[in-house]
Parts: sequence; structure tokens; C-alpha cells
Amino acid sequence: MAVLVSGTGSILEAMLRVGLPVDLVGADRPCRGLGIAADAAISTVLVGRDDWTASQAGGVGEAGGAAGADGGMGPRRFDRKGFSCELAAVLAGQGIDVVAMAGFGTVLDVSFFAWGDGRFRGRVLNTHPSLLPAFPGWHAVRDALDAGVSESGCTVHVAIPEVDAGPVLAQRAVPVLAGDDEAALHERIKAVERELYPATIAAFLERCAGDGGSKLEPNCRQEGQTR
Ligand code: GRF
Repeated sequence: MAVLVSGTGSILEAMLRVGLPVDLVGADRPCRGLGIAADAAISTVLVGRDDWTASQAGGVGEAGGAAGADGGMGPRRFDRKGFSCELAAVLAGQGIDVVAMAGFGTVLDVSFFAWGDGRFRGRVLNTHPSLLPAFPGWHAVRDALDAGVSESGCTVHVAIPEVDAGPVLAQRAVPVLAGDDEAALHERIKAVERELYPATIAAFLERCAGDGGSKLEPNCRQEGQTR
């Protein structure tokens, strides 16, 4: 299994604490998560967004990535398909067949899921800091606060090409408390994600093993919510 990170990597740390079999940690930018992997003697790979970003008109925006200024040369264009195919090839080359995104800041192109005759289809997992389908997107915690909801939470799901969608494997609610700001609520949600995501991945891997390595997508479609 590979874990994909872009940031702090506290969920990766939680996975390692419970002994999940993490064979490889991949990142789209230099980040603390890569250091956590290196400290744990886990192989790392950096497929940099910047290497797939050209200074052209028509930039895209997400997760502090390639959008925006490029030294005054105008918006930058991110080659999402090229990046996604390169990442798929690198992971496959390392023998990876299950991928867990843990704060990964790049939306994978449909070509990632189709790569190698659908090698990763139904085998890419994600955790998101809201009770999907409520509040998809990069600002899920902020959006929940802005909406004035009394509870939010987190969702572990099988990733599909549509962002923050796909079969739900587990969800858990987290109350919004008086005085919560984005950082405080996100940290309480992440505390739950650090338990729920590793446990859900462990169960998923068990089913993968029991599946004899065949595609899990049909089984995943049968999954019900645990909340
Ligand atoms: C988590 O809240 C996850 O749901 C979101 O990014 C955060 C990652 O946190 N996609 P960390 O980098 O593992 O601390």
C-alpha cells in the first residue's frame, strides 16, 4: 500500500503507529509527511506538481498547488493528466496496488484510475473532513462553520474521479462547539480521522487479501455507511 501526502502527515503517523503495512509514501510537493516516512525507513517518492506545471495561460486552483502567480509571468497550467499518469506509473513500478490519500493536495485525473487496465480502480481510499456529501472541496471545515451546522465530522471513502465522492466506507460525527474556529474544529476532526481511517484501511486490506487480489470496486459499491 502507498500513502499519498502533501502536508503535515499526522494521519500518516497514526497509520504507522497502528502498524499498517505502508510500503511507500508518495508526495506531490516537499512536505513533512515525506520526513515522517524517511524517519520510519519507508521508501518515498516525490512526483512534483511543479514538474508538471508550465507558465501558460489558464491555471487551475487547489490546495496551495500550482495555481496562481509564477513570478509575474501570469497564471500557470497544471498538466493533471501527465502528473496522474506519471504517479500511477511510479506506484505500479513499486508494486503498489492500494493507495490511501492522507491530506493529498492534488485531484487525480480520471487517467489515474484507468491506468494499467484499471489497476487502481476501486483501490484508492481517501479521508475527508466533513460528513459527505455535505461540504466537499478544499475548505470543508470552513464551509461547515460558515453554514452554522451543529455537527460536522469525517468520511472515509473509496475515491473515484469525481472529487470527494465515491462509496462511503465509514463516517463519524464531530460536534461543532461554541467558539470553534477552523483550526480548532479541524484538529478535533483530525483526531477522529487518526482512529477511523487506519481502522477502515485495515478492514479494507483484509478484504483485498480475501479477494485474492481481484478488483474490489463491486464489493465497495455494497458498502453501507457505519453512521
Ligand atoms: C485531513 O483532515 C484530511 O481529511 C484532509 O487533510 C487533512 C490531513 O491532515 N484531506 P494531516 O496532514 O495528516 O495532518
